[in-house]
Amino acid sequence: MMYDKIYENTKHVFGINPEFILKKYARKIDRTKPVLDIGIGQGRNSLYLLKEGFNVEGIDPSRVAIETVLTVSQKENVKINAYQTDFRDFIPKEIPYSAILVFGLIQILDWDSIHTLMDRINQWTQKGSLIFITAFSTNDSMYKKYSKDWMKVGKNSFRDENDNYRTFLEPNEIVELFKDYRSIYHWEGLGPEHRHGNSPIEQHELIEFVTEKD
Ligand SMILES: C[S@@+](CC[C@H](N)C(=O)[O-])C[C@H]1O[C@@H](n2cnc3c(N)ncnc32)[C@H](O)[C@@H]1O
Repeated sequence: MMYDKIYENTKHVFGINPEFILKKYARKIDRTKPVLDIGIGQGRNSLYLLKEGFNVEGIDPSRVAIETVLTVSQKENVKINAYQTDFRDFIPKEIPYSAILVFGLIQILDWDSIHTLMDRINQWTQKGSLIFITAFSTNDSMYKKYSKDWMKVGKNSFRDENDNYRTFLEPNEIVELFKDYRSIYHWEGLGPEHRHGNSPIEQHELIEFVTEKD
């Protein structure tokens, strides 16, 4: 798994801070039910919620991601249920979730997987549950590079020879995808400059979205 190597080589690949929209809207999450972090990575978002007293579950197909999250949560004296699995194979023990985090995942899935993800989100939530999403927009500077170097496999969706995917959402497409939900926060624009470990500085055209199940 590509992410195993990435996480083995770099400690805080996506930084140490939680996503801005999570900090801004965590107070709206119902604390009586668990939160699910899909593609938990090194756990920066889940750890924030755990320290705020939320009950959190996390899933990720990366073994290193799950080992890291379990080790760090133990060190920080917070308890998380974290499982090494793809969201497609995951069977939750207890639904509904009060919130589902989908940070940085949509852009690495193909459209079939995005639709499956949306079905799962729908099955695993109830009225009032919140969905937190970040994704890449077609305005992103990397869009041109992927459309030139990778094979087109769907609408604004590309694949390389190792079956890695990049899918970009058109402006406002996220609202259309979640049209049966009630949008709470929606922003599209140029995100901050950042780097992943020692890699060159990057800056992305981002989509930030918080929506509530109706
Ligand atoms: C860009 S990283 C974001 C990590 C984390 N959400 C964050 O914001 O720090 C995407 C994560 O999604 C995970 N992932 C990829 N495919 C997945 C799938 N099918 N099911 C669940 N997680 C997946 C990857 O292993 C990786 O850890």
